[in-house]
Amino acid sequence: MRALVYHGPNLKAWEEVPKPVLIDDTDAIVRIEATTICGSDLHILKGDVPEVTDGRILGHEAVGTVEEVGAAVKNLRPGDRVLVSCISACGACRFCREGRFGQCTGGGGWILGHLIDGTQAEYARVPFADASTYPAPAGVTDEDLLMLADILPTGYEVGVLNGHVQPGDVVAVVGAGPIGLSAIMGARLFSPSMIVAVDLADSRLEAAKQFGADVIVNNGRQDPLEVINGLTGGLGADVAIEAVGIPATFELAVTLIRPCGHVANIGVHGQPATLHLERIWGRDVTITTGLVDTYSTPTLLRLLGHQLHAERFVTHHFAMSDFPAAYDTFARAADTGALKVVLTP
Ligand SMILES: NC(=O)c1ccc[n+]([C@@H]2O[C@H](COP(=O)([O-])OP(=O)(O)OC[C@H]3O[C@@H](n4cnc5c(N)ncnc54)[C@H](O)[C@@H]3O)[C@@H](O)[C@H]2O)c1
Ligand SMILES: [Zn+2]
Ligand SMILES: [Zn+2]
Repeated sequence: MRALVYHGPNLKAWEEVPKPVLIDDTDAIVRIEATTICGSDLHILKGDVPEVTDGRILGHEAVGTVEEVGAAVKNLRPGDRVLVSCISACGACRFCREGRFGQCTGGGGWILGHLIDGTQAEYARVPFADASTYPAPAGVTDEDLLMLADILPTGYEVGVLNGHVQPGDVVAVVGAGPIGLSAIMGARLFSPSMIVAVDLADSRLEAAKQFGADVIVNNGRQDPLEVINGLTGGLGADVAIEAVGIPATFELAVTLIRPCGHVANIGVHGQPATLHLERIWGRDVTITTGLVDTYSTPTLLRLLGHQLHAERFVTHHFAMSDFPAAYDTFARAADTGALKVVLTP
């Protein structure tokens, strides 16, 4: 089969590799019918995620059809259409039992396209298949469902819920890529008084408006702190959500919040960021970090098509054989306007 293989920083290729086989009896082999590229894949290619080694098949989001299941798989049958979640769950460890699948100590967590081969391929081996996939509901398209593999639960859990967005809040979202936009869409569920999106790319800020941002700030031209202070009588935002993953944006998010506010970091960071404790020690702020758990997937599935419009994320379609072009389009989002690119066989 063919797959998108990582060969070290800035190196990747769509190439011939062995088709995956069942290893554990809790595995399933899934034929990938739709997959996509995440900002985290770009971080991997930058060399920010050193656990990913030469030869790894990238990708942690997919919708596909089960081809084969191990003897211990109870809920899936060959022919079932499933969502493959970015987080795998052993289902039995302490963290899985608390719904904190991202922290799974039983061999799950973020493993696909990270510690084991992933979903940017014609086939993938999905460990702990019962707890790591969701049956595709009838009437939901592959590409809508695909948005639930990572971005929608990430924006909602790590941004909106960790940030404790409340009705009436002023919410600043730093970074308006698919993750920031998911946080905007998720924050809307809680009726904030205002959402302020901050990004360097005008195309992404335009998208932020479509997704429900009330105010957009291009921080290449405008000072976001000045804008937020102007909107809040100098107090600051109730919640700042960081959805970029570089020191400058984390440090910016911390400066944007009011006393007793929340900073919810979503970005994957490869460099140390400075926490100015000398400025905030007395401001009673809460800062959270998080790897998505995907415990919200069933909730988000019920909101699809009503409050959550997954189709708005999909801007480009490619055949899997055009993976290099898809990466290029996604990585140059400021020029291409790409949000999520969908790849099909
Ligand atoms: N915590 C998790 O579980 C989790 C899950 C998925 C993705 N992520 C991370 O979330 C982050 C966002 O993912 P994405 O897919 O939206 O990525 P993306 O690369 O598509 O979007 C990042 C956005 O940040 C903007 N940006 C870059 N530098 C900026 C700056 N200095 N100021 C303001 N904006 C700036 C870019 O223009 C872009 O719109 C990444 O770090 C990704 O790794 C985390
Ligand atoms: Zn991801
Ligand atoms: Zn576990």
